[in-house]
Amino acid sequence: MTSGGLISGFSGFSREDKIKLAASFTGNPELFIRELRDHWHHDHLRQKQYESLTENVVSNFFLPYSLVPNFKINGKDYIVPMVTEESSVVTACASAAKFWWPLGGFYTRIEEMEKPGHIHFIWKGGPREISEFFTWIEPGLFDAVKPVTGKMSKRGGGVSRIQLNDCSATLPGYYQVEVSFQTADAMGANFINTCLEIMAGYILQQADQKGLSDRLEIIMSVLSNFTQHCKVKCSVSCRIHELSKLHSGADGLAFARKFETSVMIARHSLHRAVTNNKGIYNGIDGVLIATGNDFRAAEAAGHAWAAKDGVYRGLTEVELDGNYFTCGIEIPLSVGVVGGLTSLHPMARISLMLLNNPDAAGLMAVVAAAGLANNFSAIRALITGGIQKGHMQLHLANLLSQLGATDREKERAIEYFKQKTVTHTGVEEFIDRIRKENPED
Ligand code: MEV
Repeated sequence: MTSGGLISGFSGFSREDKIKLAASFTGNPELFIRELRDHWHHDHLRQKQYESLTENVVSNFFLPYSLVPNFKINGKDYIVPMVTEESSVVTACASAAKFWWPLGGFYTRIEEMEKPGHIHFIWKGGPREISEFFTWIEPGLFDAVKPVTGKMSKRGGGVSRIQLNDCSATLPGYYQVEVSFQTADAMGANFINTCLEIMAGYILQQADQKGLSDRLEIIMSVLSNFTQHCKVKCSVSCRIHELSKLHSGADGLAFARKFETSVMIARHSLHRAVTNNKGIYNGIDGVLIATGNDFRAAEAAGHAWAAKDGVYRGLTEVELDGNYFTCGIEIPLSVGVVGGLTSLHPMARISLMLLNNPDAAGLMAVVAAAGLANNFSAIRALITGGIQKGHMQLHLANLLSQLGATDREKERAIEYFKQKTVTHTGVEEFIDRIRKENPED
């Protein structure tokens, strides 16, 4: 097997053959194969379990699994699991959680928990006709999905609303059947898409009966990740003077005002808004990955929500009211605690266990708190000493590993760089120097 040419039937190859073929694309097949094998789980059954999650699996890709203590959320204490490769994310989250713990912690409110899906179609007829057709089929749409909604109804979910949207002003002939779902404790993607496909089939059948098939073309049926009616609000609040504890010698009011200005900048500058929101999703994604949830869906929804006024803005809000400082976020978030990866991935299961097996609303609260915590710490660092000092101190360990530093060299470097600015070149030069000075160390 060699590289080059179209590869057919790859998914049917054995794992060994997939690896051999991929290795032929690399400059160092031995190293490539060794690393893949080194990252197999030592327990064959566990390895099989991971391999069953997606297609063409040949190894595992480890990411650190970290714990953030001292989260108080709605009066309850949590140790929050996070999966992230970015060293400063866990530190940022932990420092905000610890700061807010004695001040009452994070408060959250679930706004709604409804998720949308659409049957997108083109109608080559008049608006009255399609509206009459929709009124005629609407009860049947609810009935058509009854065979698949039974289990979800028992858990308190199901189809809550169906409406026809005329979008023909934006695209000629374009209409949607918009369906709103409640998915209880599941994220519900498969449930929603299954219902929509059944409904689409029913629409086609009814159009056929009414002799309308040549005027109605269904383009696609799919959930929308813009879960604007499945939202959580999260905030922290304290007396302004408490903020002086955040930075030695800082005046609480001056800090609060600078914080407020930074939030206003994120509302008006696209560049700052994107970075501010990325910092929020540093925390959110970490918990979503640790609990086996879909972080891409959460990010897509969050960024769309940030642009809901037609202008992309920072998601953070701040209020200085008399003696009080309040900072919060409101984000769309669709999570699940049953089904999908939450039941298949052993690490996702223990993450949920650590959070005391929350329902979906409970997990939304924890995820939002992690997002706000990261954002708070990022802004705090940015408006005081800057983020690089902390980032580079944390990055030092990575640089030392890259340079193959021994434990002794690492100890000496950590001590030395406590008082110095960490740069890649600086660390490299330091290691070179101590190796020359102490060749047998
Ligand atoms: C880095 O991953 C995230 C920050 O840039 C976020 C921010 O600037 O608010 C620190």
